[in-house]
Amino acid sequence: MFHETILIQTGLADRPRKSRWPARLDLLQGATGLFLALFMWLHMFFVASILLGETAMWTIAKFFEGYFIFGKAYPWLVSCVVGFVALMLVVHALLAVRKFPISFQQWRTVRAHAKAMRHGDSTMWLWQVYTGFLMFFLASAHLYQMFFWPQDINPYLSAARFWSDGLWPFYLVLLLSVELHAGIGLYRLAVKWGWPNASRQTLQKVKWTLTGFFLVLGLVTLAAYMKIGYELRDQGRVEYTPEWVVKKQEGAHRNQGDGQ
Ligand code: HEM
Repeated sequence: MFHETILIQTGLADRPRKSRWPARLDLLQGATGLFLALFMWLHMFFVASILLGETAMWTIAKFFEGYFIFGKAYPWLVSCVVGFVALMLVVHALLAVRKFPISFQQWRTVRAHAKAMRHGDSTMWLWQVYTGFLMFFLASAHLYQMFFWPQDINPYLSAARFWSDGLWPFYLVLLLSVELHAGIGLYRLAVKWGWPNASRQTLQKVKWTLTGFFLVLGLVTLAAYMKIGYELRDQGRVEYTPEWVVKKQEGAHRNQGDGQ
């Protein structure tokens, strides 16, 4: 009787059959979220290559520009990757918005329930909403920069962004948001799909260990870029180029000169 009343009041009773779309959209939201979280982990390792030295980071940046395949760097290849990640982010955000508490009243109700029940998973979900909202703006700004200036991904130019352009507080907030958001998101996916098959306590332990690891790696990386940026603060816009590339370029110039 109670269920019938709800169906009539919401108009669902008139529907010929239940729609499968909410489930499909949920699946797509999970899939795009999984892709973005795994991409972020890989991305963190690529960015952290600066800890192994300027040459390591330069090599990875040039690898994505196709330098070691074509013998010449094509930064637009990086823009293609950024474009695809941006598309995934837009789809993911669009689908996530459906679930945001959209009025103050709704937000107060969720928060009150989470608090009253001391329900950790609901509290985590609220954190996912806050950090997701922040990333609408921060991740978009970052992707905009990477899309239009992929040639500026370079140990010295990136470090100058952190220090001379004063972007380190931006990266710090982005780092905290993305690591919390991705960790909670993956935990919620694991609980929802039952894979890996482990208790919530175990999954939470794994989640916090991974979040802690990537946060520490991110913070140490942030500090490394800031240090390089600080040391280069008076030098203007300089690019890092490894010694062997400089020699190769000098050799090519000399050969050109001899030929004339
Ligand atoms: C969802 C998308 C993304 C998010 C949330 C994100 C987040 C971040 C964060 C938090 C940092 C700072 C790392 C630290 O402090 O240790 C960073 C740095 C960086 N990211 Fe991303 N990133 C995203 C996509 C990309 C893409 C697609 C590229 C390029 C292919 C990229 C390239 C870089 C580079 C080169 C840096 C070093 C700093 C710089 O050059 O400005 N990111 N990113």
